[in-house]
Amino acid sequence: MKFNIAVLPGDGIGPEIVEQAIKVLKAVEKKFNHQFEFTYAITGASAIDQVGDPYPPETHEVCMKSDAVLFGAIGDPKYDNDPKAKVRPEQGLLRMRQQLGLYANIRPVATFPSLIDKSPLRRDLVEGADFVVFRELTGGIYFGKPQGRSEDGNTAYDTNMYHRFEIERILKVAFEQAAQRRKKLTVVDKANVLATSRLWREIAKEMEKDYPDIEVEYMFVDNAAMQIIQYPKRFDVMVTENMFGDILTDEASVITGSMGLLPSASIGIHTSLFEPIHGSYPQAAGKNIANPLATVLSAALLLDMGLNLKAEAQAITDVVTRSLEAGFVTEDISKDNPKKTSEVGDWLAANL
Ligand code: IPM
Ligand code: MG
Repeated sequence: MKFNIAVLPGDGIGPEIVEQAIKVLKAVEKKFNHQFEFTYAITGASAIDQVGDPYPPETHEVCMKSDAVLFGAIGDPKYDNDPKAKVRPEQGLLRMRQQLGLYANIRPVATFPSLIDKSPLRRDLVEGADFVVFRELTGGIYFGKPQGRSEDGNTAYDTNMYHRFEIERILKVAFEQAAQRRKKLTVVDKANVLATSRLWREIAKEMEKDYPDIEVEYMFVDNAAMQIIQYPKRFDVMVTENMFGDILTDEASVITGSMGLLPSASIGIHTSLFEPIHGSYPQAAGKNIANPLATVLSAALLLDMGLNLKAEAQAITDVVTRSLEAGFVTEDISKDNPKKTSEVGDWLAANL
């Protein structure tokens, strides 16, 4: 079959890692007799440099016309240290999420047996941990108005705001996912303090009745942060608001010992988007050392959730597992015999 895939490499290591995922997708194309049409477009700091806009209208159009979007990373240190910069790369990411209506960010946290000893946690705590976080992505304090400064500059404010429809739609996908997994849903909030959280909890309790075979638990976010470290195996599906999800998914990503391996999907109203959960890692940009596996696995998620090509997605996951077992991996995983980013991509494409 024929599919249109938008490719947004972005900043830092983005271009290098995306290139490896494209190699693997081309191998899939050949093996399974598909036709993938790749259309490249600019985002982030590199787009600011070129056209002064981190998410230009042309890029949005490419995304809207595609069946799925493969995204690298956004961000550049020259903006991080300049709080006064008028245009920031991250604004592009936020606008992209909003304009594509990507309200559900799905971040699976699964362990790879060959990497368990890389986890900062004890083996018995992480072995077998397998959960997925549903993070609301287009609402909350990231987008609430008003946001800004008082006239004298000495007061700043953000607004955390959620509407019923925003909460219902993300809870719905999380409930449905839980129904397909181990039937346990953890709703993470701060209902003891925040009005938005109390609305989340109220709506989740209403929806519970529609999913009688799912066990729902409610957990305050501070407690959840602790439980992820203390007892990660207790979780199956976790759902939470934008800001809590941002923080908890970074925390969850390191317990598997392999942040460089975790993909994510963002789904919603328009074209779905797939990206590694790590950032643009500017220190490694251009050095051919970054781990491409999270992006390659994002390409697998793209095939699975975005294009409904299950066997093709599985073929990618399998070849990644084999590269880990064979020790054909980048320096973040193998200190003794590290391979280059491009070598890993070539190996995966050849062995798929
Ligand atoms: C993420 C990132 C972004 C976020 C930043 C880069 C704006 O941390 O995707 O988790 O906060 O959502
Ligand atoms: Mg984050």
